[in-house]
Formats: sequence, C-alpha cells, structure tokens
Amino acid sequence: MRTASGIYRQKLDHPGGRTEIVIGAGALSGEASGLADWLEGRTVFVLSTPRLAELHGEVLESLGGAAARVVRLEVPDGEQAKSLAHAGRLWDEMLESGGKRDSRLIAFGGGTVGDLGGFVAGCFLRGIEVVQAPTTLLAQVDAAIGGKTAIDLTGGKNTVGLFHHPARVIEDTALLATLPRAELRSGLVEVVKMAALLSPPLLERVEQELDALLAADAAALAPVVAGAAAAKCGVVERDPAEGGWRRILNFGHTLGHAIEGALNYSHLRHGEAVAYGMLFALQLAHSRGLDETLGERLRGLLGRFELPPLPPLEPADLWALMSRDKKATESGLTWVLPRALGHGEMVSGIDRGEVFQQLETFLPDPFARPPFSL
Ligand SMILES: NC(=O)c1ccc[n+]([C@@H]2O[C@H](COP(=O)([O-])OP(=O)(O)OC[C@H]3O[C@@H](n4cnc5c(N)ncnc54)[C@H](O)[C@@H]3O)[C@@H](O)[C@H]2O)c1
Repeated sequence: MRTASGIYRQKLDHPGGRTEIVIGAGALSGEASGLADWLEGRTVFVLSTPRLAELHGEVLESLGGAAARVVRLEVPDGEQAKSLAHAGRLWDEMLESGGKRDSRLIAFGGGTVGDLGGFVAGCFLRGIEVVQAPTTLLAQVDAAIGGKTAIDLTGGKNTVGLFHHPARVIEDTALLATLPRAELRSGLVEVVKMAALLSPPLLERVEQELDALLAADAAALAPVVAGAAAAKCGVVERDPAEGGWRRILNFGHTLGHAIEGALNYSHLRHGEAVAYGMLFALQLAHSRGLDETLGERLRGLLGRFELPPLPPLEPADLWALMSRDKKATESGLTWVLPRALGHGEMVSGIDRGEVFQQLETFLPDPFARPPFSL
C-alpha cells in the first residue's frame, strides 16, 4: 500500500508474528520515530561493512536513534562475511560489550550482511530481535524478506542457517543511487523471476522502465521494489518454511547456482547466473508446453540486460554441482519451469540424458530460440 508520503507499507504474516516492510526513498529517516519504542533503553548492535560506512556513513550513524547504547559491528564486504569465523567473532564482541536477551540488532547492508546479521541475531542468547535495513536491490526485493538467514561452510553456500524473521524491514530506495549498474542488474533479475511467475503487471512495468531502473532512477525503483516485495510476501505467507510452494522462487536457480559454483563465484554475479538459469529453464519448458509468447518475452527482456557473456562450461561439471545442491532432494532435482505468464510449476524427474543434451545446445548460445514452435 502506498501512503501519501510516497512510502509503501507491506505486512508479512508468518508463524512468529507479523513483519512490517517499509519501502521508499527516505524510508530510514522517516521510520526513526516508528523504531523508537523498539530501540528505547536497549543495547543496539548495528552491523555493517566499511564500504557502507564510506558510502552512507550519515545514515549508518543515525540508526541507533533512541537506543541506550549503540555498538557498531563490522564485517568485510561481500560473501566472505558469511562465515562461521565472523559469526563467532561477532558473538564474542556482542557478549563482551554487554549484549543481553533484550538487545537488538540492525543489519545495514546487502544480502550478505542481512543473512549473516539475521543468523547472528537468531542464535545470540537463543535469539534477539533484528531489523533488516537492506541496501542493495537484491536484498530489498528478496534476501531481507522471508526470514531465511545463513552462513556458508567450505562445502557449500548457505549450508548453516535458521528462520529468524525480522521485527521490521526498512528498505530505503534512495540508498540504491550508489549501487553499481551490475548490482542493479543482478537485483532486477530476481524481480523478473518473481514477476514472470507471480505478477504480470510487475513484469510489464520492468519492461517499460528497464532503462530508468538500470540507471537507479529513484522514482522508477520504489514501485518496483514494492511490487516485488509484495510478490515475495505472498509466497512466504503461503509457505513460510519452504516446504513446497516457496520453491517457486527457485526459477532459474537450479542451473544458476551450478553456474556460480562452476565459476568459483567469479565472473558472474548471482543474479546474472540466475538469468542464464532462467533462459535454460525456458528451454526445458519449451518441450513441456510452455506458452512461447512468454519465452520470447523473457528472452527479449533479459537480452536488454547486457549480461556478461557466459564463460565456457562443461555439462558434466554443472550436472555434478546441481546434484549436490542443497535444494536437490533424495528424489532428485526439481526444476521450476514457467508454463505461461503468471504460472510456473515444479517439475521433477527430468533425466540426466535430457539435461545433458539440452545443455549441449544451450551453453554455446543461451539466447537462441528453441528450434521448433509448438
Ligand atoms: N535470505 C534469503 O532469502 C536470500 C535470498 C537471496 C539472496 N540471499 C543472499 O544474499 C547475498 C547476496 O546479496 P547482495 O547481492 O546484496 O550482495 P552483497 O551483500 O555482497 O552486496 C553486493 C555489493 O554491493 C555493495 N553495496 C551494498 N549496498 C550498497 C549501496 N547502497 N551502494 C553501493 N554499493 C553497495 C556491497 O558492499 C557489495 O560489494 C548472498 O549471500 C545470497 O546467498 C539471501
């Protein structure tokens, strides 16, 4: 819902209660009074990175508000922050600086800070409340919403974590102005993922405003972030523990994760790898009755993203990684395949031979139209 001040408000009901999500330019300063009760008299840990401090130091400084005491916690930029070593160090720092059961934590940063911050808060003294203040598009449309938190082990990404819903999510879209174009693109892929299967009007908006969105135009970004947040909330409310329907959000992720792993998390950002994963899902869906108008539309839209080229990859390596992915179950891989605009389905039992054969044609030319029309 959009308020007169141009701020969007969204509620997410989950087994632990209700999370309010506030979205728009200036949302963080605008919400200061709303957070006063939550902060008052408490020790508040504010977790962020040196990069965020450099870019948005003033906002960062202002986050403690009515707290009795603000303790700044810092982790390095990027995925390396999501380690057991950093989580352990943060817990020690929180304990040494007097953290209590009623202390609070604010995670101010991209999805890495949010995942780590949620995890650290969820475990500290068996759980303290957290506010997520995401600063990347990807985190605003996806990672900060839904309560999933995680750290990485050497053996795999997001392998240890828990559900810990934030008390509130404050998404200040003005902060996205400093985000590099490639990060915007990566976040927008996740928007396209949700829009294609869950919200046709959102897909149309992204198609119409793609150039403005990639240029971090504040007026264009806020309604798109709000639309994606609403779509994600709808999915999470229907399946809070990711037992079934929530896996619809894995559209593009089965191959996307394998591409990231095969490239050792270099060359492509997460969203860029997912974009290739979505293109491959379109190819698999083609022979299963996909409405090709959607296939054409998504290929056309993703073509405008100017993705970095897909480096050479081997089907056998990708298959091995997909089979090991934590989202694979004992019964094998489940693919999220689009069927038509606003409709996706989960498909299991696609055999290794078919995936290999499709990968052989896909990898050299990911944007190619399937060879025949239905
Ligand atoms: N919990 C979930 O449901 C969920 C969902 C999707 C992704 N994730 C996780 O999210 C993480 C990826 O998140 P991400 O893409 O935000 O990565 P990130 O946190 O590494 O941020 C990307 C880069 O943007 C920089 N940055 C952040 N805010 C900025 C700003 N306002 N201006 C300029 N630069 C800024 C960061 O310093 C970093 O270099 C992954 O670890 C992934 O596993 C979690």
